[in-house]
Amino acid sequence: MNFEERQSKRAKSVKSSMIRELLKYVSDPTFISFGGGAPDPDTFPRNEMAEIAKEVIEKEYRFTLQYGLTEGDPILREEFIKLLNRRYGIEGLDVENVVITVGSQQALDLIGKVFLDEDSVYFISAPAYVGALSAFLTYSKNYITIPLEDDGLSMDILESKLKELDEKGELKKLKFVYTVPTFHNPAGVTMSLEKRKRLIELSERYDFIIVEDDPYSALRYEGEDLPSIFKLAGKERVILLNTFSKIFSPGVRIGAVVGRKDIILKVSQMKQGADLCTPSLTQRLTARYLQRYDIFEHLKKAIEVYRKKRDLMLKGIEENMKDVDVKYVKPMGGLFIWVKFPDEFDTLEMLEIAKKNKILYIPGSAFHPDGGGRNTLRLSFCLPPEEKIVEGMRRLGRTIREYFKGV
Ligand SMILES: Cc1ncc(COP(=O)(O)O)c(C=O)c1O
Repeated sequence: MNFEERQSKRAKSVKSSMIRELLKYVSDPTFISFGGGAPDPDTFPRNEMAEIAKEVIEKEYRFTLQYGLTEGDPILREEFIKLLNRRYGIEGLDVENVVITVGSQQALDLIGKVFLDEDSVYFISAPAYVGALSAFLTYSKNYITIPLEDDGLSMDILESKLKELDEKGELKKLKFVYTVPTFHNPAGVTMSLEKRKRLIELSERYDFIIVEDDPYSALRYEGEDLPSIFKLAGKERVILLNTFSKIFSPGVRIGAVVGRKDIILKVSQMKQGADLCTPSLTQRLTARYLQRYDIFEHLKKAIEVYRKKRDLMLKGIEENMKDVDVKYVKPMGGLFIWVKFPDEFDTLEMLEIAKKNKILYIPGSAFHPDGGGRNTLRLSFCLPPEEKIVEGMRRLGRTIREYFKGV
């Protein structure tokens, strides 16, 4: 059988992401990786989870070991609505506004499935979260990139591209703007309040949906919370994606889509064909955790851990990259630092020297689907222990100096 001939065009066009490729080095203990965005396992509330897991299997096995509703565990959806109220001050939701997904990654795929035809147009940032792009690309290749500035998406460029679409009579093909407004992955930046408001105005004027992906806003290390776009605009034209991956544990694979009831119903219908339901066991485990413990109290400890690691990495940049003109925005939260080098740098090329020095990062070009970003890279500070961050930054400094001599 010739597999090549039998593959769909869709399957043929898929390639493994660079982040996945780099994972093979991560298992080598001599390497230090600032690559993936996996949380620090010491932040998982494992003792509490173990106690609840035992209990929900023993006492609630008729639910936890069984198929469940496609929309999700009703108790988890109730608890999640309370959490949305505490976290964002969002009110007026009921369970039909929420579908539980297998992480936000499944939500992104389902959003693509629900909204995108082959000729549909959507906006993403440059740089972009690659997982979103790979989900959306399965359904439509017609993305338009909008540069990310230190205070979020460039609204001027978004507006001019919207005007262009309008002039070409193609506005009907436009489905959504996808944005990670708070502590962006990979860029670490946060969209200002002014820009959030302007995005909402544009969505009303040009009639598009805003997909607000917010895995990180609860991980704030300094500064004041900004209102979510969903809170500012309401559910009419905003879809909010949330996940327990970075604030609880990615192993439970629990995410959620919040939005209008008609949209949520369609997302659930699409989910039926994907997996019937999100695992009942991890949903109920998460629900009982939320009932029994204060997740925000637990997060205070995680925030301390990550703030310290972020500060160590920032210090590492200052100490080890003196010889080059590097630029970065100090992230007020989230898990990533985005570093920009002089134009002549190519961080993909530099990765070969980094591998020799046993240090890993993600070259910026991996986040720029239409080229660009070659002089940038993403560093994530969440997973390595503190001493490895210090040593890793030394290795990165050495890598840069060695590369710089050759440039
Ligand atoms: C912006 C963004 N969206 C979605 C996800 C997917 O997360 P999960 O599927 O674990 O909820 C990630 C993971 O890193 C992310 O950074």
